[in-house]
Amino acid sequence: MTTSVIRLLTCGSVDDGKSTLIGRLLVETDSVPHDTIGAARKVRRTGSTIPAGEIDFSLLTDGLEAEREQGITIDVAYRSMSLLNGKRLIIADAPGHEQYTRNMVVAASRADIALVLIDATKGVRTQTLRHLTICSLMGVNRIIISINKLDAMDYSQKVFDEISQAITAATDRLRLSDVHIVPISALAGDNVVFPSQNMPWYVGPTLQDSIQSWVAPKDVEIDGLMRIQMIARAENFRGVAGTVQAGSFSAGDEIVIYPSNQKAKIAKIVTFTGDVEKALEDDAITFVLEPEVDATRGDLVAKNPADLIPSDRFAAHVVWLNEDPLIHSRSYLMVSGPTTSPAIITKIKHKVDVNSGEHISSDALKMNEIGLVEIATDIPMVMQPYSQSREFGNFILIDRLTLKTVGAGMIQHSLRRASNVVLQDYEVTKSVRSAQKNQKSRTVWLTGLSGSGKSTIANALEKRLLTQGAHAYVLDGDNLRLGINMDLGFTPEDRAENVRRTSEVAKLMVDAGLIVITALISPFEVDRQRAKSIFQDGEFLEVFVDTPVEICRTRDPKGLYKKSAAGQIPNFTGVGQDYERPTHPDLILDGTKPVNENVDLIMKELL
Ligand code: ADX
Repeated sequence: MTTSVIRLLTCGSVDDGKSTLIGRLLVETDSVPHDTIGAARKVRRTGSTIPAGEIDFSLLTDGLEAEREQGITIDVAYRSMSLLNGKRLIIADAPGHEQYTRNMVVAASRADIALVLIDATKGVRTQTLRHLTICSLMGVNRIIISINKLDAMDYSQKVFDEISQAITAATDRLRLSDVHIVPISALAGDNVVFPSQNMPWYVGPTLQDSIQSWVAPKDVEIDGLMRIQMIARAENFRGVAGTVQAGSFSAGDEIVIYPSNQKAKIAKIVTFTGDVEKALEDDAITFVLEPEVDATRGDLVAKNPADLIPSDRFAAHVVWLNEDPLIHSRSYLMVSGPTTSPAIITKIKHKVDVNSGEHISSDALKMNEIGLVEIATDIPMVMQPYSQSREFGNFILIDRLTLKTVGAGMIQHSLRRASNVVLQDYEVTKSVRSAQKNQKSRTVWLTGLSGSGKSTIANALEKRLLTQGAHAYVLDGDNLRLGINMDLGFTPEDRAENVRRTSEVAKLMVDAGLIVITALISPFEVDRQRAKSIFQDGEFLEVFVDTPVEICRTRDPKGLYKKSAAGQIPNFTGVGQDYERPTHPDLILDGTKPVNENVDLIMKELL
């Protein structure tokens, strides 16, 4: 897509001369009000080498740093200036320290160009490599490396060449292809906007030239793609309106709408100035389709259905944004464009060392860490590799409980086409199987602390159902851990997987027409919610066996509270690891009451 805006991310710290450089760029392109410049001229900072009366460019941008130092969180600060070619430059300034990796990642994901500042008096530092690694992962298109403070190094070509060589080794390794290296002095004004008189050995573009010459690469290799922005309705007229994102459309073209996969023909292409035969990239148009399809805002219109092959397994880089670590096997919501799907990180393949780009094996991702993961979605999604399309290659992960954005992701490739695995329909259905057993099949999910009485209640409930002629089965946490779940321990990941597998087995049994009772601690709310979400309404009864931990401790049927008190079970639920009380259970049982009373209460719910 052509654009009138260029987004630039600045990477570096105040010591590298970042504020001075941005300040000079703004002033020399006439992007700062004159009274602001006047103020920067008058004030003279203690310790500053700038003579009175001259402009201290850094003062024009330092306000941001000051606010940051006071602990005011400025995620990313933006400034804007006009370029000579009529385009607007938006400068994003993200904090550069490692603890702000996530802020930089988010800024880099939107940037076209990254301006990486190197202090020539110090050479290439770890921080520089980290910034380049992030820019490479986030697909920043052009990298401009400004080797600054050359005035302090006698404008030495040798110093510039040495640093250039070191940095080129890194950019080659990171496969950054569009790299400009510019020798500058932000303080003295060499090669920022005006070519330097002091470095006749450099004949390349100035910093401003390198910014202005950038042209947006073609995003998606797709011919004929539009996202629906509006359904246009009038008497005798219904159309889908939007802006052509890639390629072209002609009247008469056969198209497909995603996600519904409906096919139609473009009967007419309508614009503000009348009907046209052909719509090109960036054209704002309305298609009248034949037949009329049921589409909504956010849906995609594509000329070639092969461009929109949905998949439900992906390899992706994920940047973790949340204080609580990423838990694989846990269900999150994955959002990309108009589609939201529950998704599970099935595997963390490796973590990326942001300082070196090296791969480190890991089974968790903490805040600010980046990893390559495998992800499985419940609903097939149309995605493209991020390297080919930022728009169709990016997604966010949302915590199902807090609805906070916890991760940002970039698709590397899809792992299989969803269409290769298809749900088979059988003629004998769940309702037939339940009817045969004269019952409504469903799951009674008992959750509570170890020793709360889940297994005892499950046992009594199964007996009661049996005497009434019902067909039931208990899935007990301990018993499953001796078989199908024998590979699982008690980390949050393993508990999530334990709950996932058990709920899938329970779902199969419900499909078989049975009443399933589960007795699992299942300590985490999101995992229980995900379990519930795979059942139909009314098929899943979450029953909280609420027994105070002191009572569970005195009961201690397996001697585990004693062992955990002796430090032998560090992550024991309710002691070393949390038990999250259900927020909206269908039923709460007082675990100190007689078992039969509690069974009565469940039976009442089952009627
Ligand atoms: S869950 O948390 O993953 O749902 P599950 O119900 O399957 O747990 O298994 C819990 C049983 O494992 C407990 O009844 C207890 O016998 C045993 N156990 C062993 N270690 C732990 C632990 N660290 N925390 C809780 N239960 C444990």
